[in-house]
Amino acid sequence: MDKIMELQDVGKVMTTGGTNFPILSQVNLTFYKGEYCAIVGNSGSGKSTLLYLLGALDRPTSGTIKIDNVDVSQMSSQSLAKLRNEKIGFVFQFHYILPEFTALENVILPMIVAGTLSEKKRQERAAMLLGTLGLSDRMDYYPAQLSGGQLQRVAIARALANQPLLVLADEPTGNLDSRNSELVFDYFRKLNEEFGQTFIIVTHNTSFVKDCDRIITLADGRVVSDAAAGLCLRERGDKMP
Ligand SMILES: Nc1ncnc2c1ncn2[C@@H]1O[C@H](COP(=O)(O)OP(=O)(O)OP(=O)(O)O)[C@@H](O)[C@H]1O
Ligand SMILES: [Mg+2]
Repeated sequence: MDKIMELQDVGKVMTTGGTNFPILSQVNLTFYKGEYCAIVGNSGSGKSTLLYLLGALDRPTSGTIKIDNVDVSQMSSQSLAKLRNEKIGFVFQFHYILPEFTALENVILPMIVAGTLSEKKRQERAAMLLGTLGLSDRMDYYPAQLSGGQLQRVAIARALANQPLLVLADEPTGNLDSRNSELVFDYFRKLNEEFGQTFIIVTHNTSFVKDCDRIITLADGRVVSDAAAGLCLRERGDKMP
């Protein structure tokens, strides 16, 4: 299996007013293309911090992170920005939807930045994504006219816009009812199975976690378990070519 990301002895320390706060310690994880993975753990265990590091939005204070075998710390901020726009789709806890653009325009924007599709194709793709997520009647609404759960789905559609190799999501269904959560996770699974897109998702949604191939559990900033179907993935990972 293709290795897409590798964390070696990753640590994150925040320093405030001269005091060091260790947030993550000795994180060793390898992710392979096509994995469908959940990150779970109590509030404050470091899940969001880890997701930021995985998306190269933040840098570790120790250890190394390699994406596609390239050490992230060696990459220029310009090539990191390009990598993020083209290869990684993010869904944040706070969704950062641009208020001056409609739902449809918000989904189109990353495709304009990537510059790969014609205007017509961008429109079609954005409409398809919003439709799939149950928002066909809200495409021309502005963020202020949308509910929290609708905004969350716009953020998901935007994250998927450029068919990213890797989707990172922080509680993507935190504002959704069970029917819409199911819609989102069913679509994620479909993309994972059809296109081999990799999903790494922080969630407490038990039906998603049950459907996952791999569950990483954090406690106090450490990986306390990394399991797939009862196996320790790290052991399985060592045997992978
Ligand atoms: N600047 C900082 N200084 C000190 N501690 C910090 C700082 N930023 C974050 N933390 C701590 O880091 C820990 C991990 O935070 P993080 O947001 O990663 O947790 P989480 O697992 O995502 O929690 P939740 O489930 O509530 O979203 C928390 O205990 C938080 O208080
Ligand atoms: Mg969090």
